[in-house]
Amino acid sequence: MDPVNLDDFEQAAQQCLPQLVYDYYAGGAGDEITVRENRAGWQSLRLRPRVLVDVAQRNLGTTVLGVPVSMPILTAPCAFNSMAHPDGEPAVARAATAAGIMQVVSTAGTHSLEEVAAAAPQGNRWFQLYCYRDRNVTQWLVERAAAAGYKALCLTVDAPLVGRRDRDTRNRFALPQGMCWKNLEGVGLEQMEAAPDGSALVHYISTIWDSSLTWEAVEWLRGLSKLPLVIKGVLTAEDARLAVEHGASGIVVSNHGGRQLDCVPSTAEALVEVVDEVGGEVEVFVDGGIRRGGDVLKALALGARAVLVGRPYLWGLAVGGESGVAKVLKTLRDELDLDMALCGRPTIASIDRTLVK
Ligand code: FNR
Ligand code: LAC
Repeated sequence: MDPVNLDDFEQAAQQCLPQLVYDYYAGGAGDEITVRENRAGWQSLRLRPRVLVDVAQRNLGTTVLGVPVSMPILTAPCAFNSMAHPDGEPAVARAATAAGIMQVVSTAGTHSLEEVAAAAPQGNRWFQLYCYRDRNVTQWLVERAAAAGYKALCLTVDAPLVGRRDRDTRNRFALPQGMCWKNLEGVGLEQMEAAPDGSALVHYISTIWDSSLTWEAVEWLRGLSKLPLVIKGVLTAEDARLAVEHGASGIVVSNHGGRQLDCVPSTAEALVEVVDEVGGEVEVFVDGGIRRGGDVLKALALGARAVLVGRPYLWGLAVGGESGVAKVLKTLRDELDLDMALCGRPTIASIDRTLVK
């Protein structure tokens, strides 16, 4: 049967993916409490619809750091898309561009950032940055992203080390033959050696990424290019304030889809804290557990400029490549459009805090 909602896509993907891949995508840290609570956080909010509003014409369009998009949804940076489908990140680029939305492209891609840009040259995208101990490597990534026309840098700050993911330990997670960290080709960091006693990712990250990063690095990165800098992985008002003080243009409220530290607040909860602190100053984005158009609506009502969606597009990619991703995005768009109509909010600008309780 054709998937009709995002959970159906997950089920269909689980049928066709190897267990090691499905577990890596679906899993999280520790007891996966945060993975579950991210979803529950959106589900537990209630909508306060207004009636007798003319909703015959609706417009889901908005802007993200000044760039027009057809709806307030971005694809989240997710590692190793080619494990879902050989077309990988370029297929996501084409689907996102066709849908008129932005893709956030991961450092941990199985295609290079240049290949992704070339796959859909008219599309808009951000580059998600992980910082390597060798600052020359990090600088090289930033310069390449700027040269390839990326619209912003998105620095992920919740992964100085990788979370403890029991599924990956049990499966001895490693990349399938022929896949590598494409963005790191040329500097000898592209191979992720298998680890005999656990996840290869844990080993790679703990030896190569810079876990000594502080807010000083934010200033340094801002000096490397003119690209606006978005900080991804903030969960507290204190860090949101520091991000603004250090010149961030945007913040992504995120707990990495529950994959890093278990038992942190759901992102629905953390969003409120961050918006209350800096919502008037920078654009605030959120991700984690968004699976319905109604979840997007709730996030916007709580003050998010837009949301990022991670696992669902991987499920779409696994099931049908580019067209699978396109179907996932269309499902979300249709749900959001309908819910906006049923809530009496025909435009993004008409969505405000009074819509949720
Ligand atoms: C991620 N995420 C992530 N984030 C990041 O900044 N860089 C990355 O390379 C990755 N890689 C990655 C791989 C996989 C398989 C997943 C599921 C997630 C986190 C991602 O950007 C986002 O924060 C979450 O996926 C959002 O939660 P949902 O939508 O998956 O529930
Ligand atoms: C992950 C890393 C690569 O979540 O961000 O698997």
